[in-house]
Amino acid sequence: MTADFESIRILDNFYQTSSFFPMPVVLVSTVSESGMTNLGPYSLVFPHIIAGEPGEHAMMFISRSTSNTAENIRRTGVCALNFIPDDKKYMECCVELGWPGESTEEKMKHSIFSLIPSMRKEKKSGIEYPEVVKESVQIMECTWDDSFPLEVTPECNHFLLRVDEIYLQKDYREAIIHGMEAKKFPKLPIDYGFRDNIYFWFTEANKPYKVQITDRHDTNVNSIMFAAKRFDPSVQWTEEAAAKLVSVPRIFLKRVFAGVVEEAKKEGVTVITAEFMDKVRDKRSGEKD
Ligand SMILES: Cc1cc2nc3c(=O)[nH]c(=O)nc-3n(C[C@H](O)[C@H](O)[C@H](O)COP(=O)(O)O)c2cc1C
Repeated sequence: MTADFESIRILDNFYQTSSFFPMPVVLVSTVSESGMTNLGPYSLVFPHIIAGEPGEHAMMFISRSTSNTAENIRRTGVCALNFIPDDKKYMECCVELGWPGESTEEKMKHSIFSLIPSMRKEKKSGIEYPEVVKESVQIMECTWDDSFPLEVTPECNHFLLRVDEIYLQKDYREAIIHGMEAKKFPKLPIDYGFRDNIYFWFTEANKPYKVQITDRHDTNVNSIMFAAKRFDPSVQWTEEAAAKLVSVPRIFLKRVFAGVVEEAKKEGVTVITAEFMDKVRDKRSGEKD
């Protein structure tokens, strides 16, 4: 049996002209030349540098180079990414704010969003930080890193935005730190982009569901003990500690060993116990106290 696929011609903006690509809806706030906060709706905003030291994590944001937002980031170097919840009236306002060519003063008259001051703890002198959207589920306050190429194509600017701080509404922050349940997920919209040359299409946020990672590979405690010993013979593991790694896919085991052993050496621990593993694996243990 052959699958019923057909090739489609790849056009510019292929993610919305030649495919279905689920995207976030973000209001990017920036400061205009007159000092007023500008809100521009954007979807091409994705995690780009996902690991590293504090200050290195970054989003990639793509905007037409002539937008208010792009001009403001090039001039001020800062912006905030406001993730607004799924609500049709918010999406309607986004489409209104997405009309190209209007000045900040003209377009912001039509905004239904409430602006509050930037929440950044560290503010550099001489920089005016944009206000942020109070209705947001979460806000990333960012600084443009201009050492990355801005102009991959002439019409578009590619901004590498270092994520300085992330603010979440209290209940969602609690959910991340203390454990998720379906009802604790925020309702974020999905944008399928500008289609039919007339409409933007969005989908409603549905109830999330979970899928457990199953262990169909034959990793047992003994094989973990063996691999751990080989990884660093100077550190011992109890069986209970090794048992905690049975469900870790084998390709990640070395990385996990490296992290745990580094922490053990830092703390002068020579026998890795289940309790020590719990402490190391809970990256947010400090925040729970
Ligand atoms: C939901 C939505 C998503 C959009 N995503 C993008 C995008 O990712 N990149 C882009 O250049 N324009 C995007 N646009 C169009 C911009 O919003 C539009 O260019 C607008 O004029 C930008 O506002 P500004 O000039 O105040 O920055 C989007 C519009 C909407 C309604």
